[in-house]
Amino acid sequence: MKLGFVGTGAISDAVIRGVLRSDCAVDEIIVSRRSEHISQKLAADFDRVRVEDDNQAIIDQADVIFLAVLPQLSKEILSGLHMPDDKKVVSLIATIPIADMKAWLDTDARFDRAIPLPPVEHHSCVTAVYPGSPDVMALFEKLGGAVAAKTIDAFDGYATGSALMGTYFTVLENAAQWMVAQGSDYADARRYLAALFAGLSENTAKSPDQGFADLYEGHITAGGLNDQVAQTFLREKGGAAIHTALDEVFARVKAASKGG
Ligand SMILES: NC(=O)c1ccc[n+]([C@@H]2O[C@H](COP(=O)([O-])OP(=O)(O)OC[C@H]3O[C@@H](n4cnc5c(N)ncnc54)[C@H](OP(=O)(O)O)[C@@H]3O)[C@@H](O)[C@H]2O)c1
Repeated sequence: MKLGFVGTGAISDAVIRGVLRSDCAVDEIIVSRRSEHISQKLAADFDRVRVEDDNQAIIDQADVIFLAVLPQLSKEILSGLHMPDDKKVVSLIATIPIADMKAWLDTDARFDRAIPLPPVEHHSCVTAVYPGSPDVMALFEKLGGAVAAKTIDAFDGYATGSALMGTYFTVLENAAQWMVAQGSDYADARRYLAALFAGLSENTAKSPDQGFADLYEGHITAGGLNDQVAQTFLREKGGAAIHTALDEVFARVKAASKGG
């Protein structure tokens, strides 16, 4: 199987490195020259990567084509290309609907959309896919896991959920600064909190049958210190803030999908 990448930026780099570190049956990966510093490094690091100047040549030679250009440039770039109907397309482009891409590329090819995140390089994150063709699911399973979104709303919900990363670091930074105010060195507070949350993530990963509420029960004493912090967070409307933030991001994703 030959994979092609139109757009060799940050996320293509992570996916390609993840694929080539897996046992995916991939004979060759053909990448567009842009971004040249990334495509050159990939070709230097892996014999199976070849750089092409022409996006149409990538499409013509590959069996599965990944589209990974920026959303605002996608109409201009894709409109100049033709996608034969027998190709399989995986679009990583945020917000652009499949119907728009099919119209620009003048094709009935099979499309999936996916939201890989940078840790796919090390097979340590789960990728949301819509609608979830079996071969695309199998590929992302090898990069850490895949979830198929049954509807476009569910898919946009995953895109929205991935926007919580900044909040994670904001919580940790606020906690570290508070500990510094009590006399800790920042480096020690950072190390302590990072290990605490890494351990919780590990416990969570090892207990796939337990919901987050079950894990709360398992880790936290009712009326204890952790329970107190969580209850204060809710009392101060932390839970409502998360819902409001996700609602607002979801609306933004939907507006962008309509060209709004
Ligand atoms: N980064 C993430 O975590 C992530 C996750 C999921 C989805 N996405 C989506 O994936 C897409 C790419 O994101 P990214 O973070 O990888 O962005 P990026 O690093 O800016 O990559 C975009 C790439 O498109 C290239 N490009 C521009 N015009 C081109 C053309 N005519 N032909 C071929 N390539 C061209 C750019 O090359 P130059 O540098 O030479 O301009 C650049 O390498 C976006 O739609 C984004 O929404 C990103």
